[in-house]
Amino acid sequence: MKTFKVITILICLVVVGVGFIEIKKHKPTPLIFIVPKGWPKPIYNFKNNPLTVEGFELGKKLFYDERLSKDSTISCASCHQQFSAFATFDHNFSHGYNNTFTTRNAPALQNLAWQKELMWDGGINHLDVQPITPIVAENEMAETLENVIYKLKKDTSYKRMFKNAFGSNEITTERMTKALSQFMVMLVSSNSKYDKVKRGEDTFNLPEKLGYEIFKQKCASCHTEPFFTDLSYRNTGMPLDATINDIGRMRITNNKNDSLKFKVPSLRNVDLTFPYGHDGRFFTLSNVFEHYKSNMQPIHNTDILLKNKLYLSNFQIGQLTAFLFSLTDSSFTKNPLFAAPAYTKPIILHQH
Ligand code: HEC
Ligand code: HEC
Repeated sequence: MKTFKVITILICLVVVGVGFIEIKKHKPTPLIFIVPKGWPKPIYNFKNNPLTVEGFELGKKLFYDERLSKDSTISCASCHQQFSAFATFDHNFSHGYNNTFTTRNAPALQNLAWQKELMWDGGINHLDVQPITPIVAENEMAETLENVIYKLKKDTSYKRMFKNAFGSNEITTERMTKALSQFMVMLVSSNSKYDKVKRGEDTFNLPEKLGYEIFKQKCASCHTEPFFTDLSYRNTGMPLDATINDIGRMRITNNKNDSLKFKVPSLRNVDLTFPYGHDGRFFTLSNVFEHYKSNMQPIHNTDILLKNKLYLSNFQIGQLTAFLFSLTDSSFTKNPLFAAPAYTKPIILHQH
């Protein structure tokens, strides 16, 4: 009996040992996610999708790969452009498959590790499932998941990259979206002038300083620091555009009180992410200020903070604008780590 036990233990040790060698052989390099000083803990569950250099690189390649769309002309990056903080630059709506258009303005992709819900109406509650929506949407990439996986499987470089990231060359939807998440959670913007001032490395000039004070009084209850959004859904008195008929959060909850409520957008990099609003109806920051100041059309569920519109003098608008420009983070929008990998085709920039 004793020898039997010893032999069993020995066999176990050998199995574990071989296992270790196996793991060691393919073990990807862990990537550390750094939480900026003073920021809360991320809500993304890294335990279910541990970040690795290989997973991130794979996610980046997928993000910039046009083969994720039906006619292989549109990548995630066609609509989410780095120089625009991964929003669509200068377009209210983005171009999708076969000359179609999205019906909402593409938001910046930044600080996603802290977002519990995604999209303007919060209709998606996990980053790992989000990419499926644009891939299959007729007015975005119009492709099927089966076909995407089929195209990826034909590419030997993907086989190698999936193996390096996940231990075997099996290519699945789950692995694809997890890799995309690894790329997307790394898109942290935390190095604007505002951040440097907060860290004591820089100082505001007078207009920025005064603008910050006004911002804290009039805007920060919704556009809350450090993300410049509290991630809630609010009605800001934007009248319904009857051609699109987008009722916002009510589409998800079916609750009348959620009619025309949209997620408070982050104002980080706001200078680069125009046009503004869920449908991009404001082409400039001045248009946004005009809205808050005079053009709002409050209805039953317009936010209590905005019921009487927001009084803003031209002088205050100038100072607020100066402050908002201090949220631009060029170390994020120009970071080569997030730029298109050299081995994919250049991104096609669609013109009007
Ligand atoms: C044709 C343009 C287009 C393409 C292609 C596209 N997106 Fe988007 N993306 C949008 C628009 C528009 C929204 C806002 C949709 C909404 O609110 O309903 C959005 C929203 C998002 C969001 C939510 C962000 C937030 O703050 O709520 C994420 C994440 C995202 N896209 C990632 C991706 C990924 C990954 C891909 C590629 C698999 C992709 N997108 C492809 C236009 C696009
Ligand atoms: C009651 C909450 C609330 C307050 C207060 C508020 N906002 Fe907003 N803000 C929102 C919401 C919600 C949106 C998105 C509205 C939509 O598209 O339907 C928005 C959109 C914006 C946008 C467009 C950003 C983009 O990327 O589309 C800017 C700029 C902006 N707000 C600046 C400000 C400033 C500056 C103030 C203070 C003067 C302010 N907001 C006060 C909730 C608020």
